[in-house]
Amino acid sequence: MKRTVIVDLLRRTDYGAAVLVKGWVRTHRGSKSVHFIALNDGSTINNVQVVADADAFPADLFKDITTGACIAVEGQLTESPGAGQSVEVKAEKIEVLGLCGNDYPMQKKGQTFEYMRKYAHMRLRTNTFGAVFRIRHNMAMAIHRYFHDHGFFYFHTPLITASDCEGAGQMFQVTTQNLAQMPLDEQGNVDYADDFFGKPTSLTVSGQLEGELGATALGAIYTFGPTFRAENSNTPRHLAEFWMIEPEVAFNDITDNMDLAEDFIKYCVQWALDNCQDDLAFLNKMIDKSLLERLHFVVEHDFVRLTYTEGIRILEDAVKAGHKFEFPISWGVDLASEHERYLVEQHFKKPVILTDYPKEIKAFYMKLNDDGKTVRAMDVLFPQIGEIIGGSEREESYDKLMARINELNIPMKDMWWYLDTRRFGTCPHSGFGLGFERLILFVTGMQNIRDVIPFPRTPKTADF
Ligand code: 4AD
Ligand code: MG
Repeated sequence: MKRTVIVDLLRRTDYGAAVLVKGWVRTHRGSKSVHFIALNDGSTINNVQVVADADAFPADLFKDITTGACIAVEGQLTESPGAGQSVEVKAEKIEVLGLCGNDYPMQKKGQTFEYMRKYAHMRLRTNTFGAVFRIRHNMAMAIHRYFHDHGFFYFHTPLITASDCEGAGQMFQVTTQNLAQMPLDEQGNVDYADDFFGKPTSLTVSGQLEGELGATALGAIYTFGPTFRAENSNTPRHLAEFWMIEPEVAFNDITDNMDLAEDFIKYCVQWALDNCQDDLAFLNKMIDKSLLERLHFVVEHDFVRLTYTEGIRILEDAVKAGHKFEFPISWGVDLASEHERYLVEQHFKKPVILTDYPKEIKAFYMKLNDDGKTVRAMDVLFPQIGEIIGGSEREESYDKLMARINELNIPMKDMWWYLDTRRFGTCPHSGFGLGFERLILFVTGMQNIRDVIPFPRTPKTADF
């Protein structure tokens, strides 16, 4: 007999049909006459209830049906008398495929997320993580669908690179040399001539620079891939390995870029509302009671748009009115997450797009405004999250870009190819990066970024 996946089984109404289901036992309770087994196969948050008459099976069998055990059940699809489910399976044959001992780490309900992180390989089997990772999959589908339908091409950029896009120096080095015996040149510096690539290389912090080459050829592209940052920040919003989506569009200015970001993110949230109802209902009940309300709010309201300078004024006024921030605030400083969240959660009570930041706190490739002080940057700030998107209009003038590069002392030896975009038919263009896990945090209501990627990489953690 062919197995029926539980998500499909729960929709069926052909009572009396013979069915085969397989999955992992969530709970098992029994009396002298009858046993009830809640079975889950990961296809949905919902379990199917298996009902087994005690005297139809050897008594020993039921001892093996413990939480976490894997079983196959053949039986009859029946209408369920219980509330909350429409069908159940009346068992005729039960086979234990995999026993599960009482040292199974996900046995008890109500364990903390911190505890579960230590067993990240097993936490996938819980309701919460099942919901989170089904939603994560759905968000990936929504992203590809959005860009495909809007004429963007999915463009693959390298993970190993010799350039530092963000210029923040937070890169993981890549080498095949023996680290204990790095060859040195005459000046005593590491000699990369014999290394695999013949030069220093790292894991990429962004696909943007190569993405710009794609956009200035194909018109509109997006990347969607792993991104690596060796920032030693142990926060609930930073990972050392995360996934980033980076659209880049020729001829878009900063306003087009903001319009794209807003439309795109609303599309993704709406997709979750339309396609992940059971999982969202679960998370709304168990994790965050205002989740659904927040998701609806975001799709239904325009994002507020204002400049960094206006934002600073609001924050300074808040300080004058007695609001306490941990980090001091004045024109020129980078905003901390507490500042971003103040603007979003307390002042505007809406997502905010902040533009025109001081050039000193943004990357070299951003277009300089006429004031000579600010650049055409945009950060999208979200409730609970802070910065979810960072992007900009790009500096398309070769001379102005070179001036910035010289000002910042950026080694350009390995960047000649990037500068060629400005030498050969340069054009205005814009793009942004969305942190995939920050989107998943927002859509699931989870509090810690370590809990929305299956196997998180953070300082001192690379298990599994
Ligand atoms: O603001 P960022 O650094 O921008 C860039 O990398 C640009 N090259 C993007 C572009 O214009 N194409 O990063 C973009 C987004 C952030 O807004 C944040 O959501 C996410 O990437 N992000 C991280 N997410 C998790 N862990 C980290 N360590 C992250 N660093 C950035
Ligand atoms: Mg940023």
